[in-house]
Amino acid sequence: MTENSFIHRFEPAHDAGSPPLLLLHGTGGDENDLLGLGKMISPGSALLSPRGRVLEHGMPRFFRRLAEGVFDEEDVRRRARELGDFVAEARQRYGLAAPVAVGFSNGANIAAALLLLQPDVLAGAILLRAMVPLSDPPKAELGGKPILLLSGQADPIVPASNSARLAAQLSEAGASVTHKILPAGHQLSQADVALARDWIGNVAAEAA
Ligand code: MLT
Repeated sequence: MTENSFIHRFEPAHDAGSPPLLLLHGTGGDENDLLGLGKMISPGSALLSPRGRVLEHGMPRFFRRLAEGVFDEEDVRRRARELGDFVAEARQRYGLAAPVAVGFSNGANIAAALLLLQPDVLAGAILLRAMVPLSDPPKAELGGKPILLLSGQADPIVPASNSARLAAQLSEAGASVTHKILPAGHQLSQADVALARDWIGNVAAEAA
């Protein structure tokens, strides 16, 4: 596979001290969707933004689902592998450090799968409205990687017990998880942007 197998946008860094971001859109989004969010939360970062390769009634996604919240886990594994390969190739092509994923909804779910299946691909992740992607994930070793999980208290798609289980899975794998539950639904709010910006600022400062 080559990096061209994911349609994507790339914007170079303006500040070498800011971590590259891997932007992963939600169902029906595309590679343009999260560029604005990426710039808001980390203005100096390089932005790598692929379009999901699975189509559901014409809507791009990062893996197949059988119903809302019911995933084709074989496809999750396969697509996570493809995304991991894409990141490796894009890092070489663009000269990037391991990125921090910023995923929304379906994009957050593939980022969570990537963390559990291929812990070396991402330096960390901001998971916006994520849920458990794999019922029986392998034993991953996340070695203190920083993860911010932002859930919506009134999210009709992600039950509170599900996001709590994801936070527990990631913590048990050794990640340094910050889980906040916002007074929001599945859609993002200003609070998501503010929290993500502060969190990534701290991550960059700690890495410096
Ligand atoms: C998913 O399919 O990944 C979740 O149900 C979130 C969504 O994309 O609606």
